[in-house]
Amino acid sequence: MRIDILTVVPQLLESPFAASIMQRAQDKGLLEIIIHNIRDYSTNKHKNVDDYQYGGGAGMVLSIEPIASLMDKLMTERKYDEIIYMTPDGNLLEQTVCNQLSLQENIIILCGHYKGVDERIREHYITKEISIGSYVLSGGELAAAVLVDAIGRLIPGVLNDETSALTDSFQDNLLSPPVYTRPPEFRGWKVPEVLLSGDFNKIEKWREDQALMRTQQKRPDLLNE
Ligand code: 6GU
Repeated sequence: MRIDILTVVPQLLESPFAASIMQRAQDKGLLEIIIHNIRDYSTNKHKNVDDYQYGGGAGMVLSIEPIASLMDKLMTERKYDEIIYMTPDGNLLEQTVCNQLSLQENIIILCGHYKGVDERIREHYITKEISIGSYVLSGGELAAAVLVDAIGRLIPGVLNDETSALTDSFQDNLLSPPVYTRPPEFRGWKVPEVLLSGDFNKIEKWREDQALMRTQQKRPDLLNE
């Protein structure tokens, strides 16, 4: 899978993909992440990428020309399955969308900044608008990093058995059950007996019960979906 990220602050996207599972996905050749600096496609001599908004008001707007020119170039090079705009007024990101996106070949992610992007980009290029929550970030970059991480780990072959995504929270609309590792007792705090029993059926049953209880307590909304 190839992901092209378009941003005016490429520095913000340097480290999130340079370690752990995202790095491994790239090393294995399963994921290619290319960061593009929108400023490189500015045609005026000051390399401006934004401008005042028509109608007046505070805040700059990302201009249409550099973004359109970069997107046109990419779109002549290959076919893109989705062109995603990261914006606080987009659709809330959910696991099901991550699952779908992880099966695509090529996607573009455009990061918003300042007051946002000229509306004509949204009308004529964007196929999906995504928000990662009901709060405002300074730009779409950190949200894009969240999206790429959530998608990247689902690409077939990225995770092994040990880290399998099948047992993740949300994959079955349930939160994950509690987990423990050695020692069996620390300061008198004991690991639940059943996990030490070696009885696989009993353990599975316990985990299902715990997952359900946790979901009822912390995220009852998931059970009504
Ligand atoms: Cl995608 N962008 C910005 N700027 N803020 C956000 C967001 C995105 N999602 C939640 N807040």
